[in-house]
Amino acid sequence: MPHAPYRPMVLAAALLLVGAASAQTPDAFKGANPSEGHRLMNDRQCDACHAQKWGRDGKDVYRPGQNITTIKQLRKKVNQCNTGLNLNLFPEEETDIAAWLNESYYHFKH
Ligand code: HEC
Repeated sequence: MPHAPYRPMVLAAALLLVGAASAQTPDAFKGANPSEGHRLMNDRQCDACHAQKWGRDGKDVYRPGQNITTIKQLRKKVNQCNTGLNLNLFPEEETDIAAWLNESYYHFKH
């Protein structure tokens, strides 16, 4: 078994990769689909409404650290806009949207 000594290094490299990947995706968004969240936001015209109040493309509404400082609050806000405005999103879809917003604007770790 001449290759045996290399095994621990391969294992260590694999563990490093797994560690790097999980550092990017917070636990709350494991298994979520951010690109589906993006599609849903275009479909429901979220930013068209935000633009009426915040101008430009509406994206100025996303202000990390002001009203929203955690993933939990971000999810809550997405849920409020959803239920308050009857956008008819399922909970999994809200999670996909929150994952997209976190990836694009908020960058919260937890
Ligand atoms: C009919 C108008 C309207 C629609 C449609 C709408 N929103 Fe909002 N949204 C608002 C208003 C008004 C606020 C600000 C209210 C506040 O700050 O409490 C807001 C605030 C937010 C915030 C908080 C931003 C921050 O950092 O403080 C998020 C996140 C958000 N909306 C997500 C969404 C998503 C996702 C959708 C679509 C699924 C959506 N909204 C659809 C009106 C709308």
